[in-house]
Amino acid sequence: MEKQHVCPWWLGYTFILPIRKYQHDPQKILAPHIKPGMKVMDYGTAMGYFSIPLAQMVGERGMVYCIDIQEKMLKHLKKRAIKYNVQNNVTTILVGKNYNPIELSNQLDFVLLFAVVHEVPDKDKLFREIYSMLKPGCKVLFAEPKGHVKPDDFENSLQIAQKSGFKRMDEKPMKKGLNVFLLK
Ligand SMILES: C[S@@+](CC[C@H](N)C(=O)[O-])C[C@H]1O[C@@H](n2cnc3c(N)ncnc32)[C@H](O)[C@@H]1O
Repeated sequence: MEKQHVCPWWLGYTFILPIRKYQHDPQKILAPHIKPGMKVMDYGTAMGYFSIPLAQMVGERGMVYCIDIQEKMLKHLKKRAIKYNVQNNVTTILVGKNYNPIELSNQLDFVLLFAVVHEVPDKDKLFREIYSMLKPGCKVLFAEPKGHVKPDDFENSLQIAQKSGFKRMDEKPMKKGLNVFLLK
């Protein structure tokens, strides 16, 4: 059975360490799928390890919606967005405050779910909401940390995603680990 707990906010500093690039290079992982002008969502953004490069990739005409359940994560992300001069194309959204999936219905070109689904208790609701916000024909990159999440639990989450309407793609976002693309 999967353990659920939200990672403490201070751990967010470790997710943005430059050394992480050797394992998760945002350019390699995301750039082939992101085009200027896109509207993308980084769900479970923390301090924006992926959100800042995403904002650079979508450029001035695009937008990155950065969702988290912890205000302290988003506060630090906002500071980083200013530092990297992408504050105008980053929108921070706090779950339980200004998160309203209906407002983004059929608006998103891409969604990143990186190391977050195992922390969300109602996965059914999460995948249904993500499905409703994506444009038809667009995809989700869904990845979980190996070791922390068991393959069976990852498969269970995939089943839930498929129940919400997603199709699992053959193409893999990364060679190693628990990760898939889901297509609307
Ligand atoms: C392990 S961190 C991963 C952060 C980021 N995706 C990365 O790869 O660097 C998980 C993040 O998801 C957030 N989170 C947990 N439950 C959430 C929920 N129900 N809705 C939105 N964010 C959530 C946590 O606050 C934390 O910032």
